[in-house]
Amino acid sequence: MTEPDRLNALLLAMPKAELHIHIEGSLEPELIFTLARRNRIALPYADVEALRAAYAFTNLQSFLDVYYAGAGVLQTEQDFFDMAWAYFERAARDNVRLAEIFFDPQTHTDRGVAFETVIDGLHRACLQARESFGIDASLIMCFLRHLDETAAFATLEQARPHIGRFIGVGLDSSELGHPPEKFERVFAACRALGLHSVVHAGEEGPPSFIRGALDALHAERIDHGVQCLRDPALVQRLRDERIALTVCPLSNVKLKVVASLAQHPLRKLLEAGLIATVNSDDPAYFGGYLGSNFVETFAALKLDAGHAQALARNSFEASFADPSVKRRHLDALEACVEAYR
Ligand code: ADE
Ligand code: ZN
Repeated sequence: MTEPDRLNALLLAMPKAELHIHIEGSLEPELIFTLARRNRIALPYADVEALRAAYAFTNLQSFLDVYYAGAGVLQTEQDFFDMAWAYFERAARDNVRLAEIFFDPQTHTDRGVAFETVIDGLHRACLQARESFGIDASLIMCFLRHLDETAAFATLEQARPHIGRFIGVGLDSSELGHPPEKFERVFAACRALGLHSVVHAGEEGPPSFIRGALDALHAERIDHGVQCLRDPALVQRLRDERIALTVCPLSNVKLKVVASLAQHPLRKLLEAGLIATVNSDDPAYFGGYLGSNFVETFAALKLDAGHAQALARNSFEASFADPSVKRRHLDALEACVEAYR
């Protein structure tokens, strides 16, 4: 095997955690069409190819418009299960051993789908992923930041009976114009319930949104965060406070956050001493699951096995898993890298 082939084999074989995946963003065009037929929903696209052709994005909002429309085919508990199950089957092939999965309940409850329907299907898939693939899977409920605080509180009320079935809350959707401070009181209420918190910040938005996520929302991880490099004092703070960034390279290219993968700041983030991780964000829309994110980014940035080990280690250490679970995964990672060497 050539050296690049050996590195790619390591990238795919090494145990890893995925900490930034929107389950609605794993809905492949084929499954969108299957669910549309099952639920007798008319789609404004003739076929899978026509839908895929619409995946040409200019920024975050142009993607979100298509993403929310795609999620409209999800109606029943089985639909939510099938979507999540397809993700787990795909993730297992990339040796994802732990996944903390975002879901957007407001996208569904605003269409008349019950909160229970959403979480029942997703949670059942998480349990089965553990059984069938040994993947430690858990859910993180995201609030849509383009909606208001009242809507977020209403969602938290709907979630309350299910509090044992998700581990934390997140904040996603349109970043520009929606600073984290808007959700300070909701996140305080979630913290009081013992939930973890993560926040999308510094994807398209300024470094001040990352500070806001830390100061106002007490975010334990920052989703994306790539704009931090515009603010050296913030970089130092993220390093000192050991705040992990869940970076999504293929997403950043598709949404024009960076001009190309070769210009992606992942290497710079690592060299600045930050706890960066690699993730897929919305793999059905951005051209690749976690394995492809690793393989393509490593080729573009000329990263090596040392970077691979550091990124996979970061992914487990930045997870919300119990220390014993982290240890088990980290030991398996060390064994895998040892065999490679
Ligand atoms: N929801 C799904 N993907 C997202 C992203 N990349 N940024 C913000 N919200 C999202
Ligand atoms: Zn995201």
